[in-house]
Amino acid sequence: MIQLFKKCSLVLLTLVILGGGCTKSENQDPNVMTLGEVGSMTGSEATFGTSTHNGIELAIQQINAAGGVKGKKLKVLSLDDQGKPEEAATAVTKLITQNKVTAILGEVASSRSLAMAPIAQQYHVPMLTPSSTNPKVTEQGDYIFRVCFIDPFQGHVMAKFALETLKVKKVAILRDIKNDYSVGLANYFAETFKKGGGEIVVDQSYGANDIDFKSQLTAIRAKNPEAIFVPGYYTEVGLIARQTRELGIKAPLLGGDGWDSPKLKEIGGKAIENSYFSNHYSEEDKSPLVLDFIEKYKAAYGVIPDGLAAMGYDAAKVFADSVARAKSLRTEDLRDALSTTKNYPGVTGNITIDEKRNAVKSAVVLKVVESGFMYQTTISP
Ligand code: PHE
Repeated sequence: MIQLFKKCSLVLLTLVILGGGCTKSENQDPNVMTLGEVGSMTGSEATFGTSTHNGIELAIQQINAAGGVKGKKLKVLSLDDQGKPEEAATAVTKLITQNKVTAILGEVASSRSLAMAPIAQQYHVPMLTPSSTNPKVTEQGDYIFRVCFIDPFQGHVMAKFALETLKVKKVAILRDIKNDYSVGLANYFAETFKKGGGEIVVDQSYGANDIDFKSQLTAIRAKNPEAIFVPGYYTEVGLIARQTRELGIKAPLLGGDGWDSPKLKEIGGKAIENSYFSNHYSEEDKSPLVLDFIEKYKAAYGVIPDGLAAMGYDAAKVFADSVARAKSLRTEDLRDALSTTKNYPGVTGNITIDEKRNAVKSAVVLKVVESGFMYQTTISP
């Protein structure tokens, strides 16, 4: 009996060591550096997660093919948060405490990055979000970075475009009240728009995953605005566009980067055409860097990269660049290297990290047309 127990516990012990040892040996493999990625691979923002993931993977393949960084090959462990902040928090905790990742890439959506950032900060694991634009994200601590511009700028860009290019003065707002990004961007837009002599004639809200927007749109129609600012994500924006036209409203919709998905036109159909949004990148950009990226991405995935893919690609490349420049692989040295990123030539523009760990970059304005998104203009900070 005792013999048997001994034998069993030995087996158990071995299993435990092996079980725990798998991830450990993986991460302690001196030739591999493991990164964690958290994204919405499923749910109503699934294209955000999958495009970002594809961009990251392409960058990692290129980095590894060129020999890796500091003698190590990079590897990414990706977890799906289904578009839920609580899942994003669980995922980042797992990646840090169990998988012992060196850094975190993600999230796209600001509300989910806000759920993750305090955890990464607590463990002093650098977190680099490709595309979360709400200012509060990097305010969570000195280990939290982004390679994109922030919403005060994006709001300013669309307000300026509305006033100067579209020459509208009376705008309605329809914001997603459950989404930090949407609430913030609506406020920043209103600020510049009013300063420039415009008027917000009505301010309405909805919640993510709503499907009926008729009562808000009826209230908006009553004020006869010249444009409607809808800083939401593509699924709801597509539905809102349809219902706007169903109610006979002709005013164009305006929005931000959250519109960027091939699904926007699938959901919105004709109704979303002739509307405008600000973004990080245009596939019409003819710079050699962008042309090369588009060609390689198409070869790998069979589609043209959207802005999310471009941002994911840049985030992984910027991280690898800072690893290469870091004094050592200690977490504080990686943080310091990230914070001194200067003029990194990304496919979404030159990336310089400022003292608040944000990137200072220009934005593009795109028009939704039958064939896709048409480049209108570039606005610099
Ligand atoms: N900027 C958005 C946010 O912070 C996320 C996003 C980025 C969505 C780029 C689409 C494209 O929530």
